[in-house]
Amino acid sequence: QQFNQRPIQQHVNHNVVRNPSLYNKPFVESYEETPLLVAVLTYMGYGILTIFGYLRDFMRHWNIEKCSVARERDEQKDFVPLYQDFENFYTRNLYTRIRDNWNRPLCGVPGSKMDIVEQVSHDYNRTFQNTGKIMRDVINMGSYNYLGFAENVGQCADAAIQVTEKYGSGVCGTRCEMGNLDIHQEMEELVARFLGVESALTFGMGFATNSMNIPALAGKGCLILSDELNHASLVLGARLSGSTIRVFKHNNMVSLEKLLRDAIVHGQPRTHRPWKKLLIVVEGIYSMEGSIVRLPEVIALKKRYKAFLYLDEAHSIGALGPNGKGVVDYFGLDPKDVDIMMGTFTKSFGAAGGYIGGKRELIQYLRSHSHSAVYATSMPPPVAQQIITSMTTIMGEDGTSLGADRLRQLSENTTYFRRKLREMGFIIYGNDDSPVVPMMLYMPAKIGAFGREMLKRNIGTVVVGFPATPIIESRARFCVSAAHTRETLDVVRGVRGVSGPLVRPLARASLQRPSIHRATGPESTPLFNTPFTRGIGAP
Ligand SMILES: Cc1ncc(COP(=O)(O)O)c(C=O)c1O
Repeated sequence: QQFNQRPIQQHVNHNVVRNPSLYNKPFVESYEETPLLVAVLTYMGYGILTIFGYLRDFMRHWNIEKCSVARERDEQKDFVPLYQDFENFYTRNLYTRIRDNWNRPLCGVPGSKMDIVEQVSHDYNRTFQNTGKIMRDVINMGSYNYLGFAENVGQCADAAIQVTEKYGSGVCGTRCEMGNLDIHQEMEELVARFLGVESALTFGMGFATNSMNIPALAGKGCLILSDELNHASLVLGARLSGSTIRVFKHNNMVSLEKLLRDAIVHGQPRTHRPWKKLLIVVEGIYSMEGSIVRLPEVIALKKRYKAFLYLDEAHSIGALGPNGKGVVDYFGLDPKDVDIMMGTFTKSFGAAGGYIGGKRELIQYLRSHSHSAVYATSMPPPVAQQIITSMTTIMGEDGTSLGADRLRQLSENTTYFRRKLREMGFIIYGNDDSPVVPMMLYMPAKIGAFGREMLKRNIGTVVVGFPATPIIESRARFCVSAAHTRETLDVVRGVRGVSGPLVRPLARASLQRPSIHRATGPESTPLFNTPFTRGIGAP
């Protein structure tokens, strides 16, 4: 109740929490409806680009214009096309125009500032050449360096250097063979303690942690219920597993519960046998939306319907919660309620790789059944050491308050940065506590222009458009870091400089009209009508 009594701020809409008893803190997320005029103009923009795309494809077909992207060779002309699909059409005709905004080489640490190799293109972004110059001290608003551990000085770097001197940098073997080092075991014990689970297993790559472990846990006859905005690695893992996949609306508990009910009531198609296994797959923080999973409600549902829960904490581990232990810590829940705790070391820990945490039996099983555990070379020792040192720092086991300071700094920076952008009238998405801050640009032409104009002002941002976002929801995505200072975060002033022609009018226009919020309103009321008490979900 108390959470719904918070004063409604004018500039945002709030998701209404329907089961407040499940939450021990306010849950505030905002998603403004795309203004109609903006939507129309955006579709027109894509329409014009598509018409010109077809026109140019026609000219390429008749060799009037040179085609520089992948195409079938002359000797394959009689074959069915190998490379031609809509994505390739999109790459040729749309992406290439603004490609200079991506793939820029950095030549230093991706800290709060970074150095970027300057490049030019003399053939309309088909190829790039280095100019020999370096763009120094560009403010980095794009790296997932939430706690600022991506550093080349300090205790993490020092420890990693020492370990490199002792072990070298490569392992040259899998965990089952000669690639099982004492430092890996030390790391796994630490990860398990950090997460509050019985056991943990680590992998050299976050992407492979998902894509190779989901197939070890689910297969034919199993049903995976996957959030529509889940990361590609989760989607790939689900597909590789051979399970049936059903997708629920992003963070929408009505949609999830409906799928769960249908699964129980109808069972498998045709035979109507019960599903062998129900596996709900969600993320902690969604990196394109800045939203936080409604974990208390997901846990309540999974208990009620006896489904397993796979939680990917790639962006939330280290970045959320009073102790930096992710979304479980953030909501004050019990880690035992999550069956499979997955996360990566690539973000808050400034390292590489991924982990799975959970019950001892789960980890034992995965050690011998996961392709990633059995067949992939294990993690390089300096990387493992970076994880150990950053994690012990977060836990305060290094005897300093450095970890706690970073956590507090990240939280303050997030609040400050989000508030500043809102005050300036920008449309930003996501949860108030999420360090991932998407700012809406909408139109395709603005993606390129915004990224370039920001870089001219010495600010590096990530801009994102279709197919990574819905077609009319292109955006800039800022990642706030504990390494940012207030002055650095006043890049907002830099944003103001480009906002006039690019973003500001949209924000103002939308403020004058009513807007909707995603996954809210009566239709989002979970179908179960008796609120769960926290931790006691199933009847
Ligand atoms: C939710 C999620 N899971 C998994 C991954 C893959 O992790 P990695 O980049 O460490 O391989 C990412 C990458 O950004 C991610 O966002």
